[in-house]
Amino acid sequence: MSDHPSYPARRRSSRPRWCGNLRLVDASDAAGLLTEVLVTQEQIRTRLGEIAAEITRDYAGTGPGDLLLVGVLKGAVMVMADLARALPFSVQMDWMAISSYGSGTRSSGVVRILKDLEVDLSGRHVLIVEDIVDTGLTLSWLVSNLESRGPASVRVCTLLRKPDAATLDVDVRYVGFDIPDAFVVGYGLDYAQEYRNLSCIGTLDPAAVGV
Ligand code: IMP
Repeated sequence: MSDHPSYPARRRSSRPRWCGNLRLVDASDAAGLLTEVLVTQEQIRTRLGEIAAEITRDYAGTGPGDLLLVGVLKGAVMVMADLARALPFSVQMDWMAISSYGSGTRSSGVVRILKDLEVDLSGRHVLIVEDIVDTGLTLSWLVSNLESRGPASVRVCTLLRKPDAATLDVDVRYVGFDIPDAFVVGYGLDYAQEYRNLSCIGTLDPAAVGV
């Protein structure tokens, strides 16, 4: 059993609602897009507060400017914004965009850098901030890549992890929620670049998106 918080009970929502030609995304009922809400906005807020407290304790000995949060675009935008604001001390932030080749919704671990970091990592404590660890292939590549740049340390924080899908055992220091091996959207996670701005996280209803 995982020692991380689990997700709430199954819940089926109503049909999608529309605003003109735009599909509404609503945190309270997910506007009929989801078959299940796995993690609510409130649970995310609470859990990120707990993780921020852990990070604060763990990095208490580091000097000003030593801790760098590295966010992975685009999925980690929400978690980075909320986690960083839950920290009671100043941190620096930088972003990478990487593309992981794969078939369908699964990655292959063959990664290409689309946007690299702008800062030097030498001697810095790097905390990678991820939205989700699925197979772990992308993250494993990223950790090795950043470790090769001479940082003082590299650790990983992810909001979601799918333990059943892991093909590589990557050391993830901070995990928000362990979730089942299902495709999820919301809070930064997309399906075909949509639904990132849902405030909760859930499994997409194939009928609602016409797939
Ligand atoms: P991994 O290399 O299999 O761990 O895949 C990591 C990347 O795949 C994540 O950073 C996401 O961009 C994407 N991904 C994996 N699972 C999901 C999901 O359930 N919903 C949306 N994107 C996902």
